[in-house]
Amino acid sequence: MTTIGILGAGRVGTNLAGKLSEAGHHVTLGARSPEDTSARTRGLAPQIDYADQRTTARTADIVINATPGNSSLERLTSLRAELSGKILIDVSNATRDTADGLPGDLCYPGSSLAEKLQAALPDTRVVKTLNTMLFMVMTAPETLAAPPTAYLSGDDEHAKKTVTNLLGDLGWQPEQIEDLGDITTARATEAMILVVPHILRRHGFNPFAVSLTR
Ligand SMILES: NC(=O)c1ccc[n+]([C@@H]2O[C@H](COP(=O)([O-])OP(=O)(O)OC[C@H]3O[C@@H](n4cnc5c(N)ncnc54)[C@H](OP(=O)(O)O)[C@@H]3O)[C@@H](O)[C@H]2O)c1
Repeated sequence: MTTIGILGAGRVGTNLAGKLSEAGHHVTLGARSPEDTSARTRGLAPQIDYADQRTTARTADIVINATPGNSSLERLTSLRAELSGKILIDVSNATRDTADGLPGDLCYPGSSLAEKLQAALPDTRVVKTLNTMLFMVMTAPETLAAPPTAYLSGDDEHAKKTVTNLLGDLGWQPEQIEDLGDITTARATEAMILVVPHILRRHGFNPFAVSLTR
C-alpha cells in the first residue's frame, strides 16, 4: 500500500483524497489546520489521516501539491528535506488572477512551475499532471461526453510509470494518458490554463478538460 500525502485541503486536495483512499491507498491530507479540516471533511472517507503539511510531506511515499500555484515554489522549497527521494505530483497552476478571481496570466512565462520545482528540489522527482481540467474530472474522467486527456511531464520514467498507475486508480484509461516528455513540457500544459477563464465565463463551472482528439 502506498502512502500518499496531499498538500492542500481545498477542492482539488479533498477530491483526490477521497478517490485515492477509496482505491485503497493510505492518504494523509496535509492542511494548515488539520483538526478544522478533519471536522469539515470527515464524511469524505473514514480512513483518511490529517496532519500539517510538513508532517504530511515527511511521512508520505508520494506527495501531491494541491496548494495555490503562485506560492507553491516557496512553500515546497521549504520542504526540501521532507520531499527528498520522493515523487512530487504537481497538479497546481501558477497564475496571476484577474479582478474576478480567475486566472489572467502565468507566473512563470517562458518556464513553468514544474521546472522551477524540479530545479529547486533536485532530490525529488517532479511529475506534472491533471492541471488541465476542472477538479471533478480528475477523479471521474468517464463523466465527460468525449474521453479527456491527462498529460504527463517529468524527467524520471519510473516516476511517470508510478503516476500512470495512480491515474488508473482515479479512473483514467491508458489511452487517455499522454506522456509529453521531460519536465520542460509542463510549460505547454501550464499555459493551457490561459484558456480556462474564458470557458468558465461563458459556460460556468461545468466539468471540462483541455484534451487531445485524434
Ligand atoms: N479547482 C480546480 O478545478 C483546479 C483544476 C486544476 C488545477 N487546480 C490547481 O490546484 C491547486 C488547488 O486548487 P483548489 O481549487 O483546490 O484551490 P482551493 O480550493 O483554494 O484550495 C487550496 C488549498 O491550499 C491550501 N492553502 C491555501 N493557501 C495556502 C498557503 N498560503 N499555504 C499553505 N496552504 C495553503 C488550503 O488548504 P488548507 O485549507 O487545508 O490549509 C486550501 O484549501 C491550485 O494550484 C489550482 O490552480 C485547480
